[in-house]
Amino acid sequence: MSERRPYLGEGVGLRVPHYERALTHALDVDFVEVITENFFCDGGRPLAVLDAAAEHVPVVMHGVSLGVGSTDPMPVAYLRRVRSLIERVRPVWVSEHLCWGTFAGHYSHELLPLPYTREAVQHVVDRVKRVQDDLGRRILLENVSSYVTYRDNEMEEWSFLSEVVERADALILLDLNNIVVSAANFGFDPMTYVQAVPADRVWQFHLANHSDRGHYKFDSHAGAVPQMVWRLYEAALRRFGAVSALVEWDEEIPSWELLRAEQREAARRRQLVLGAVATNPTRPTGLGGSRDFA
Ligand SMILES: [Fe+2]
Repeated sequence: MSERRPYLGEGVGLRVPHYERALTHALDVDFVEVITENFFCDGGRPLAVLDAAAEHVPVVMHGVSLGVGSTDPMPVAYLRRVRSLIERVRPVWVSEHLCWGTFAGHYSHELLPLPYTREAVQHVVDRVKRVQDDLGRRILLENVSSYVTYRDNEMEEWSFLSEVVERADALILLDLNNIVVSAANFGFDPMTYVQAVPADRVWQFHLANHSDRGHYKFDSHAGAVPQMVWRLYEAALRRFGAVSALVEWDEEIPSWELLRAEQREAARRRQLVLGAVATNPTRPTGLGGSRDFA
């Protein structure tokens, strides 16, 4: 792996209440992440929003339904749609989840954790390679939050993730909130996870909120980033250096000002840990949109 990690700064997930900002070129953040499947359409407002965003800021695409670990046949039609969206948006990168979600054609609509076995490593590596060949680029794989585990597990989640990305030559989207949630649910130290994954493959962080349901934590994506996640973010910056960080807020979506305040807080903490000068985002020339970056 020789490609240098692009550094975009701090961004937010672009959601429907803020589409108007994209249309008026008022996305005053370093980059935005869009949910790939929300733009599987042949025209209309969503694609106008996406085009406007990509003209103005770097865009990254985040898929939620590939289910790369599933045992169903490869979703050829789905990948064709992703490919055509990539051609249109020219995202800086494309990410998906390290999970499964379908079985015998039935969709669970959940990001289900995989069994962490040698057999599953081989299966997922083969599938990720096929996806990357199909898309003509490496993808980032995101660690999911989990609430169940398998009796058959042969390794820890972080070893599984590391082996998959090394063998498939893929990259990592490290969701720090998901680590905090799973660490609480299964009783491990979040820093063990952060220390274990290959540093040069971590290209993006997710920052989000979770809720405390008494005997377990739930990955709710509603509310401001909690202190535990901010602290893990600072520790992750110390380990990985300047990694593009994105605030995910999917329920009870706040005003742009509040969302942007979280994004600025991520920038403030990054500057505190790493210093401002060396870590300013590498912006492309021109307007700074995805199309200039690609
Ligand atoms: Fe995430």
